[in-house]
Amino acid sequence: MKIRKATQNDADAIRGIHFAAFPEGERDLVSDVAVKMLSEETSPPVLSLVAEVDDTVIGHITFSPVTSHDTKKHLGYILAPLAVRPSHQKRGIASQLIMSGVQHLSELGSGALLVYGDPDFYSRFGFGADRGGCYPPPYQLEYAFGWQAMALGDFDFPSSSISISCVSSLSNPALW
Ligand SMILES: CC(C)(COP(=O)(O)OP(=O)(O)OC[C@H]1O[C@@H](n2cnc3c(N)ncnc32)[C@H](O)[C@@H]1OP(=O)(O)O)[C@@H](O)C(=O)NCCC(=O)NCCS
Repeated sequence: MKIRKATQNDADAIRGIHFAAFPEGERDLVSDVAVKMLSEETSPPVLSLVAEVDDTVIGHITFSPVTSHDTKKHLGYILAPLAVRPSHQKRGIASQLIMSGVQHLSELGSGALLVYGDPDFYSRFGFGADRGGCYPPPYQLEYAFGWQAMALGDFDFPSSSISISCVSSLSNPALW
């Protein structure tokens, strides 16, 4: 298995992975977001990684920058979306995509990494709901317990909460 940065040439494969992995009510929305993320122009840039097996793309993850809603200062990143083709799940591919992204972003600098997902899965990488509370989500969540954060590099979480903004692809309440 090989992990590399995604390019526009991977757009169809990325759409197909999310469409196959997510349930019917979410697959259209999430696969659109996954592809739109490839053309977000942000500073720092979006990090989009794919996992390949035998030259076929079977997993994808995106990390996009998060800023302070008030000051527009860069605070860190949010992990979304993530999917692995059903035929290749439970082999550690998502875990390797997450760890590879965390390592890359930690080398770029310190900050927070946010995620909205299953705490049983994400807690094994260092995410915690307590730290997620430092950066309340920009929209009301259906499952508030899924909002979590971890430190990238040597980062101290703030003592009071800071409102955040996400990239335009994620600025849609239907995703939350
Ligand atoms: C969630 C998702 C990305 C996980 O992908 P994955 O590649 O199967 O994840 P991993 O293999 O790293 O870990 C999944 C499980 O397989 C287990 N596993 C990892 N390597 C394994 C191996 N070699 N053999 C057996 N099991 C293994 C992990 O321990 C983990 O166990 P769990 O069932 O207790 O969680 C995938 O299920 C998916 O695409 N789901 C639909 C989309 C989705 O929900 N995305 C996340 C939104 S936040």
